[in-house]
Amino acid sequence: MKSLLKLSLISMLAFSTTVLAAGGGAYLPNDKLPTYSGHKLTTSMQNGMQVYMNNCMGCHALGFQRYNRAAKDLEIPENLMVENLMFTGEKIGDLMVNNMPAASAEKWFGTAPPDLSLIARARKPQWLYNYLRAFYQDQSRPYGVNNSVFKDVGMPHALESMQGIQDKTEKVKGLENDIDYANGDIVTARDKLSNGGNASELNKMIADAETLIHDKQEEINALAAEGKYFTLVKEGSMTPQEFDSAMIDLVNFLEYVGEPIKRERKSLGIYVMMFILFFIFVAYLLKKEYWKDIH
Ligand code: HEC
Repeated sequence: MKSLLKLSLISMLAFSTTVLAAGGGAYLPNDKLPTYSGHKLTTSMQNGMQVYMNNCMGCHALGFQRYNRAAKDLEIPENLMVENLMFTGEKIGDLMVNNMPAASAEKWFGTAPPDLSLIARARKPQWLYNYLRAFYQDQSRPYGVNNSVFKDVGMPHALESMQGIQDKTEKVKGLENDIDYANGDIVTARDKLSNGGNASELNKMIADAETLIHDKQEEINALAAEGKYFTLVKEGSMTPQEFDSAMIDLVNFLEYVGEPIKRERKSLGIYVMMFILFFIFVAYLLKKEYWKDIH
């Protein structure tokens, strides 16, 4: 019985790690998002809301959310909310919308900034955490920045004054260059193949280039995992640790907005489990009572 239990535990663990690995997604960096709970989570969400209202609300509405609901759930007194987090004379019962006209926004950015009410559900929180920290300088883009998690995104680096500006490290750039060359080799070889070139030679060239791409990509993945994907080229008002912490807060806030009932649901779940356990106990006593004369 014991070994059976052990076996099923081990297989459950193995299964869950496979699922996690499969869900990893193909973006870099892919740092883990720390999870908070209890009071720490509430404070974090409050801080996240402040970062949001100051830096994101101008472009991205949260049209499914009302100010007073957020005030209640995040334990922010309504007067503090009105004084510190509402800037354009809205009322506390209003939906959290902005005045960004969609048509001109599309002209300015190429894409209108989407409403972010459900973004933490559409994208995963960990994706958001990495996306917000993945802006890097790229002069070929209209705003001089690109994003390694969301390539060629139309959003400017809204948090540049806090984070500063980062760039890919020389190592990462070098490896990406090698990959570009190898991809070029593959295109050339395929071209020659279709024009009747030496098949065995060209196929070997393609295979070699593919191996090289795979190896270089592994090296890049390893650098990203060690936190050596980006380097800061211009400091912001925050240290990298402070900025990461602010981004955890921001994501916690967006996760709250995506499902305001979540915390309640979780604590309700605990009561439900407690009730079930209690009921099992009562049922057990009852069973004992019924069967006591039968043996
Ligand atoms: C100056 C306007 C502007 C500001 C400020 C801004 N964004 Fe954006 N954001 C955009 C635009 C435009 C897009 C759409 C980009 C695209 O699809 O190419 C976007 C896209 C996004 C996306 C990706 C949405 C998707 O399709 O998955 C997220 C997430 C996001 N923004 C979060 C934020 C957060 C959080 C802040 C505050 C720190 C912020 N943005 C500040 C303009 C802005």
